[in-house]
Amino acid sequence: MKFFVDTADVEEIRALNALGLLDGVTTNPSLIAKSGRDMSEAIKEICDIVDGPVSAEVTATDYDGMMAEAEKLLAIADNVTIKVPLTEAGIQACHALSSKGVSVNVTLCFSVAQAILAAKAGAAYISPFVGRLDDIGQDGMELIQEICEIYDNYDFPTEVLVASIRNPIHVVASARMGAGVATVPPSVLRQMFKHPLTESGLAAFLADWKKTGQSIL
Ligand code: E4P
Repeated sequence: MKFFVDTADVEEIRALNALGLLDGVTTNPSLIAKSGRDMSEAIKEICDIVDGPVSAEVTATDYDGMMAEAEKLLAIADNVTIKVPLTEAGIQACHALSSKGVSVNVTLCFSVAQAILAAKAGAAYISPFVGRLDDIGQDGMELIQEICEIYDNYDFPTEVLVASIRNPIHVVASARMGAGVATVPPSVLRQMFKHPLTESGLAAFLADWKKTGQSIL
């Protein structure tokens, strides 16, 4: 399973990348707005930090506008993945870009039918938003299960990129279902380290070690 981090916060990305855990990054217009950065500059900096794919989302809503924005975003760095929304124009842009060998992430997916369209359009990634479905009382992980099953039926090469992750349980459930990628907010990635027995166990080891009066170095 690949781990992407879902943020445009360059310092967070730098810190998490240093742990050796990052396979890529996803951003969206809201995350760019939250960072307060110029989009092109932020994407460039992120692409310099992380070797893997960095999703940069178009904001045009028509096909021509999406294609023009994609061209500009692709010029930023070799590891830019173009993120398009799951609309008719987005799917058309996905098809055109994928046909030229561009890596495309189709975002804002909330149904299996939508996921089929993205795979048919040649998307490298489909991003189903599990947390936002949970928020409205639908089971987000059930959607992941169904997409994985259907993509398997047809050997679609599109990777399931589980998005809108809210907690480590979403990550574990995604892994059990065989989803290719989880894009995880930094706070959730940090939560994954936590276990009270790890903390109390380490405290006990260190207390015992102190009693020996020894030092390894
Ligand atoms: C995915 O690529 C999106 O950026 C993201 O996962 C959306 O998550 P949210 O529902 O927490 O905004």
